[in-house]
Amino acid sequence: MLFNLTILITVLVIAYSKIYERCDLAKDLLHVHHIPSEQIPTWICIASHGSNFDTRDEKNVTGEYGLFQIPRKIWCGNVTIGCNALCSNFTDDEIEDDVECVKKIYKNSGFGGWNIYYQHCKGNQENLIKDCHF
Ligand SMILES: *[C@@H]1O[C@H](CO)[C@@H](O)[C@H](O)[C@H]1NC(C)=O
Ligand SMILES: *[C@@H]1O[C@H](CO)[C@@H](O)[C@H](O)[C@H]1NC(C)=O
Ligand SMILES: *[C@@H]1O[C@H](CO)[C@@H](O)[C@H](O)[C@H]1NC(C)=O
Repeated sequence: MLFNLTILITVLVIAYSKIYERCDLAKDLLHVHHIPSEQIPTWICIASHGSNFDTRDEKNVTGEYGLFQIPRKIWCGNVTIGCNALCSNFTDDEIEDDVECVKKIYKNSGFGGWNIYYQHCKGNQENLIKDCHF
């Protein structure tokens, strides 16, 4: 009974949340999403401090959504502005649209579009990926 419950809970967690492994995300950003390699340590830092690598993370109070904590102010929630998406579009397990939005924010404001950057991710973050094999 307890065993079955454990399995059930495990299945539910797997079904409803995707937590990225740090190096897997770094590799996906480079090879799948074509993020420039020199930016990757900082994106890893932002995802780590922002969402703890959880694609479903949502912070309604501060207004930051998804793996990369896309700011609601300007960028989501109003389809006529920013990334043309609802904030809920950025809290599913599919990160292609998150990355597209992140690229747009970066083009507009650089890493300065993220408070997390100023708080935690300024400077060299190379150590965050030094053990990853690309
Ligand atoms: C955030 O707001 C949405 C929409 O109102 C709601 O569905 C969701 O449960 C809220 N999430 C949290 C963590 O409070
Ligand atoms: C969306 O943005 C437009 C343009 O800034 C504004 O006129 C409209 O009221 C906003 N809608 C919502 C639901 O916030
Ligand atoms: C956002 O999510 C809605 C509902 O799932 C979907 O219809 C829409 O196409 C999505 N928008 C983007 C930009 O992905």
